[in-house]
Amino acid sequence: MQLIETRPSMFDHVRSWKRSGFRVALVPTMGALHDGHLALVSRASDEADVVVVSIFVNPTQFGPGEDFDAYPRDVSADVDTLRRQGLASHVFAPAPGEIYPVWPNRTWVEVKGMDTTLCGATREGHFRGVVTVVSRLFAVVQPDVAVFGMKDAQQFFILNRLCEDMGFATRMVGVETVREADGLAMSSRNRYLSDEDRRRAPCLYAAVRKARSLILEGERNVRVIETAMREELAGTDVDYASIVDTALLRPVDTLRPGMEILAAVAVYFDRARLIDNTVVTVPVP
Ligand code: PAJ
Repeated sequence: MQLIETRPSMFDHVRSWKRSGFRVALVPTMGALHDGHLALVSRASDEADVVVVSIFVNPTQFGPGEDFDAYPRDVSADVDTLRRQGLASHVFAPAPGEIYPVWPNRTWVEVKGMDTTLCGATREGHFRGVVTVVSRLFAVVQPDVAVFGMKDAQQFFILNRLCEDMGFATRMVGVETVREADGLAMSSRNRYLSDEDRRRAPCLYAAVRKARSLILEGERNVRVIETAMREELAGTDVDYASIVDTALLRPVDTLRPGMEILAAVAVYFDRARLIDNTVVTVPVP
């Protein structure tokens, strides 16, 4: 497995892969790799000949007061993790100046409207940072396929919109959330939880499962479903427990047969804010 650190070097590799007719998959990450990330790498290796994992803690997606400085960074441990798995062929770990040649950054890419609900409501500018960095990673790596986790469903649906609107040749693939034995979605931020919060954290999964089962049992009133999700989260500091459509992430009032919705929750614990979600297609009677 090879470590690439600059844009020119990445361009050279991409040119030679394309000349050889290799299909390229990209798995963008911010490092601190866990089994959730490795599931994406595994899926990428099914989809392409060359699997590039990018590791870049992207400054523009962290708001003031968020954990940019504290975010765990250990590229050599991540490279070891990927070597042990044996499925990634290249790691792209650029220095900030490779992605942001001018700082403060001038050129932004934005998907309007889809970044104001759910996490976008409290994390102003977050998705603009994500969309900007992913556009740049796509420009450098020129992947045929890009693999993302459905744990960050809002991110996935926004990036899907980006690719369609911009006409990017990259195909987006979403991978199911990888969970701990008790249902908690794996996340680099779980390490911030106190023992007590860690014991309570599986309530996020309970809440989205509740939404799913109510919808599959025929409940169509969104207020009823959102209230039931909040009941599962009782005793925690809920940021949101919401149902939106997956096309544009707009709030939904009534569920109609065939509609694809996202039931999503976010909860503040003492030192971490956790999210979870499920995508449900409303059954046709
Ligand atoms: P990061 O949080 O490192 O996540 C990288 C990828 O791993 C994302 O696609 C995320 O959805 C996925 N992922 C994280 N936990 C997962 C889990 N438990 N199961 C399945 N997939 C999981 O998301 C980002 O980085 C950044 O925003 C990025 C896209 C790299 C842009 O900077």
